[in-house]
Amino acid sequence: MSGEHPPVADRGFETLRWRNGTFELLDQRALPAQCVYLALNSAQAVADAIRSMVVRGAPAIGCAAAYGMALEARRLQGGSRKDFESGIERAFETLSKSRPTAVNLFWALERMRARMKAAPELTPAEIAAALLAEAQAISAEDIRLNRLMGTHGGALLRDGARVLTHCNAGALATAGHGTALGMIRSAVQSGKRISVVVDETRPFLQGARLTAWELQQDDIPVTLIADSAAGFLMSRGDVDAVVVGADRVAANGDVANKIGTYSLAVLAQRHAVPFYVACPLSTIDRSIASGADIPIEERAAEEVTGYGSMRWAPPEVGVRNPVFDVTPAELVTALITEKGVTMAPDRRKIEQLFAT
Ligand code: MRU
Repeated sequence: MSGEHPPVADRGFETLRWRNGTFELLDQRALPAQCVYLALNSAQAVADAIRSMVVRGAPAIGCAAAYGMALEARRLQGGSRKDFESGIERAFETLSKSRPTAVNLFWALERMRARMKAAPELTPAEIAAALLAEAQAISAEDIRLNRLMGTHGGALLRDGARVLTHCNAGALATAGHGTALGMIRSAVQSGKRISVVVDETRPFLQGARLTAWELQQDDIPVTLIADSAAGFLMSRGDVDAVVVGADRVAANGDVANKIGTYSLAVLAQRHAVPFYVACPLSTIDRSIASGADIPIEERAAEEVTGYGSMRWAPPEVGVRNPVFDVTPAELVTALITEKGVTMAPDRRKIEQLFAT
């Protein structure tokens, strides 16, 4: 049917999809053991899926939230205008509370609101159709921008490079292709031999479960390490570049990303390894002056005291579980966006990215 994502050659799965009138998310909690899709039909269901990590990764969260609004509009389109309008407001509220750090969520919701405001004369059914088209456009655009970033950033990686990445900033974290993994994927597609070192990414294991699996799907050589092994590998000269994604970049270039990113950036500087951050402009939040003001999500203690149904920490132990950290801009060798490569990003250069 029209408006579905274009076929994507570089992966055999879809992170999110609109099929035969149904919205589906690949349940990332079940990977890599199982590849199962969940069908969702309301904003509340999408918000729950975002909160519980069925879908995760900044751009993918934004795309899912956009579909959440479209689903809610479809669900409410047969009722009165008053019920439709109040239901839509509740949906914006519900989705905006699903996770706090990735700014793409708020960016996508704003875009959906702008789409509604642009045509106040439409009937609820027409608004529902317009919101679905907008959600599909956001997802298609995400793939297009990731490919652009891949071309820009892939050029930074030399043939034979050993690239360390953290968390999952791949097709699974976006509508397709990925940001950090998009750079790697594009470099491989251009004929370069790239091998990837991926750290586990405790506590949620996005590296071990998701990135390792995703790279295997594309036959890109991948080696899994414990998070704490990264410094040792760098000290032995076994890492040529670090490439990560971002959940929110402040106006001065500070980068919020998965917990552990800051430690990698410090290690990279110590060992003169370039540290690259790839993200679309929709991840840059110019309303936030520095990383100190980025809201950092803290998740349940159970993510740290064990995994799944397994518990290994003693009962009652005190736990902190901040799931993102902030890397100061001065540790970032280059920021890769759809606009190109910005070396040593700072406030002025980031402002310029939006000027052209
Ligand atoms: O908690 P998650 O899995 O949503 O965290 C994801 C990350 O930190 C990614 O690196 C970031 O969102 C960039 S995804 C292209």
